[in-house]
Amino acid sequence: MTSILVLNGPNLNLLGTRQPEIYGSTTLADIEAMCHDTAKTLGVSVTFEQNNVEGAMVDLIHAARGIQDGIILNAGAYTHTSVALMDAVSSVEIPTIELHLSNIHAREEFRHTSYIAKVALGVICGFGAHGYVLALQAMAQHLKASS
Ligand code: DQA
Repeated sequence: MTSILVLNGPNLNLLGTRQPEIYGSTTLADIEAMCHDTAKTLGVSVTFEQNNVEGAMVDLIHAARGIQDGIILNAGAYTHTSVALMDAVSSVEIPTIELHLSNIHAREEFRHTSYIAKVALGVICGFGAHGYVLALQAMAQHLKASS
């Protein structure tokens, strides 16, 4: 079965209470449940992870090699700073979709830069929690088309 890793970065464990005017009131547990429901309808399996530590995220991306067919990556603030995460994505050669709840391009200037986008298959942002559904659909479609 096609396997997709959904990897969430720093502060996303606080979704639901963290700046709900920007990120909405859906919790990460709700999003995880949505991802599993969506995976079921798409006929794929999802592994859902969240980590606040950059190096631990690098390790999770490395561990995906040979196991996961695609990665959906909401790297949080590391999106805008982390050459290490960009290199990890390039190194494992697993198609990766960059995802954000908020429209990072409509926010502060420093959020307009993404290291992940440079190595990503595509970017989805601005659709709140529904973005996870969109990203899973896009990844499942991509993997089907390229198999
Ligand atoms: C975010 C956007 C980032 O700029 C921010 O640092 C986050 C969340 C989003 O999902 O909108 O932590 O990745």
